Amino acid sequence: MAEFKLPENSRVGQGKTWSAPEGASNVRQFKVYRWHPDEGQNPRIDTFELDMDDCGPMVLDALIKIKNEVDPSLTFRRSCREGICGSCAMNIDGQNTLACTKACDEVDGPVRVYPLPHMPVVKDLVPDLTHFYAQYASIRPWIRTETATPPDRERLQSKEDRAKLDGLYECILCACCTTSCPSYWWNGDRYLGPAVLLQAYRWIADSRDETTGERLDDLEDPFKLYRCHTIMNCAQTCPKGLNPAKAIAEIKKLMIERR
Ligand code: SF4
Ligand code: SF4
Ligand code: FES
Repeated sequence: MAEFKLPENSRVGQGKTWSAPEGASNVRQFKVYRWHPDEGQNPRIDTFELDMDDCGPMVLDALIKIKNEVDPSLTFRRSCREGICGSCAMNIDGQNTLACTKACDEVDGPVRVYPLPHMPVVKDLVPDLTHFYAQYASIRPWIRTETATPPDRERLQSKEDRAKLDGLYECILCACCTTSCPSYWWNGDRYLGPAVLLQAYRWIADSRDETTGERLDDLEDPFKLYRCHTIMNCAQTCPKGLNPAKAIAEIKKLMIERR
């Protein structure tokens, strides 16, 4: 008889409950994933009760309050607090999003907060993005030219060509899309995933870049590009309202046109 064993640390247990301060009348529960690799224990879900009359409106405000006033060991990334840096990407109420732009009021019942799914966890809400960033670096995300730039001017771009980057340049590399993509869950070692492919197309679409052929050659691979099956989780979850699946389709179209 076949025996199956769950991977280590895949069972999530019940953690501690931190009660609301006495006299609080507007109490909200936050159920937060906790895991510390050095403790050698399975992950747990801690419950924090906060007085929302004394807390900012966003999920990140609640996490910062927990860290400052309840449990300083709670670990998460954040920086800009205005949806620009991408650091605070996590899974809130079942959807990948940015904690700083997700209002607690958008969630019914307890606010469930997990790290981005299907990534190794460094600690608590911090995923290990090393592989994601290496994949990003692999597409060489900068303008590559073959002709010399005249010393007295910049490389110019018409308004129409600049407009072709709309819907692409706004990507903040938060990885919400990539970690919501089932194809990436299964083939993330070789499939580049929606964020990196959107970025790849951002440089392909840039009229100032002179290496489009080489960029397409690099993506002509059964795994890097063609594992996208148009499931569209990426477009549904992107907190910046972008559509990585469309960018991927544009790359596929260019692949066909040049044959
Ligand atoms: S496309 Fe959207 S979800 Fe994906 S990395 Fe960029 S900003 Fe984040
Ligand atoms: S459309 Fe493609 S990239 Fe987006 S979630 Fe689906 S398979 Fe992944
Ligand atoms: S803290 Fe920068 S995007 Fe949320």
